[in-house]
Amino acid sequence: MTTPRLLAELHATHDWLASHDLLPAEQRTDSLPNPYVRLRGRRVVSFCSNNYLGLNHAPSVRATAAAALHAHGHATSESRRLGGNLRILEQLENDLADFKKAPAAMVTATGLLANIAAVHGLLEATHLAHRWHGSPPPSGRPVVIYDEMAHQSIRMGARVSAAAHLRFRHNDTNHLSELLAQHAGSPALVATDGVFSMDGDLADLPGLVEVCEHHGALLLVDDAHGTGVYGTDGSGTPHHFGLRGRIPLHVVTLSKALAGMGGAVLGDERTIAMLRTYASGYRFTSSLPAEQAAAAIAALRLLRSDHGVRERLWTNVRRLRAGLTRLGIHPPGDGPIIPLRLGPPNSAAHAEQTLLAAGFWCAAVTPPAVAPDACRIRITVTAMHTEEHIDTFLNAITKIIPLISNPHPRST
Ligand SMILES: Cc1ncc(COP(=O)(O)O)c(C=O)c1O
Repeated sequence: MTTPRLLAELHATHDWLASHDLLPAEQRTDSLPNPYVRLRGRRVVSFCSNNYLGLNHAPSVRATAAAALHAHGHATSESRRLGGNLRILEQLENDLADFKKAPAAMVTATGLLANIAAVHGLLEATHLAHRWHGSPPPSGRPVVIYDEMAHQSIRMGARVSAAAHLRFRHNDTNHLSELLAQHAGSPALVATDGVFSMDGDLADLPGLVEVCEHHGALLLVDDAHGTGVYGTDGSGTPHHFGLRGRIPLHVVTLSKALAGMGGAVLGDERTIAMLRTYASGYRFTSSLPAEQAAAAIAALRLLRSDHGVRERLWTNVRRLRAGLTRLGIHPPGDGPIIPLRLGPPNSAAHAEQTLLAAGFWCAAVTPPAVAPDACRIRITVTAMHTEEHIDTFLNAITKIIPLISNPHPRST
């Protein structure tokens, strides 16, 4: 039997990548970082977990999740509409809406699905309602314009819709304004990350709000890495910038500071009701298991009552960033995501191995997550790290300084 052509191409590409050492293996671990992790039989300190607050290990979170698992089992086996609407999911939505000060929330099975559901649903719901129910048609073909560094799931949501989709230059509100002016006749959605996942820098939310309000565009902020981290109450980048109430649509993931699985879209009640009906990333997939909802509720409760854990995170962030400055390294941003750019994939892989040999795990980030010449070590600091972890890690970083081919200029 001949191999189907598509498979033959995939296999040939695989072999080419493997022969050029461009298919790095996933490291196998037996436990999740606390911040220690066992890698290849060795105990090392992880600096690459998005579990910023360490809530994955909080006894109250684990106990609540275990109780929900015993009460409801580990799966819902259905979408929300067709039987998977556990009461606890509505409770989580109420808690998230209260935390983010949004009128309504819709929980999805992952953060990636939250973005796909939000972007696709916002762009398509009116059209789908017209097609299926004969409601008034949309006023025109919508356009979605997203920051060129926005998360892949925002792009996926744009691509599965029939809307026109464009990118604006990273954090360039003038460029966004020009694109919106060129599409003045179309209903427009603007989407961005609040904290950019690969560079750790913040979106210019004040500028984006102003431009969107001026052009009548709808702004969606994916605050995956801001929620639980930024803002005096931990509610995220909108609060950090004093923009509460001026950002109509939000996405959060439960998988970073909230240390679970799942995501949510937050906005006004009618918009969320439309997304529940028409967004495929919500409607056509099974709902979040009860133990994940329970864990998120408990993590949120802890995050809102124990400010000490966020203070520990920010003390650690400041210590590590100050140490890097002393080493002459000036990464962008000011938060727990700290990228060290190393150029090509082999430099990043070499840096990963050097750090591992020194007792630290910090996975190399290579294409397609970043451009081929922008591979990096993406450090994430957490509340679980001690001063000693940070100081010895800085010591290990001195070994990779020669590999930092393109040191970041001092960020502005
Ligand atoms: C900015 C951003 N949005 C969304 C996601 C997807 O979240 P999840 O891992 O919960 O699917 C991620 C995770 O990588 C992310 O970094």
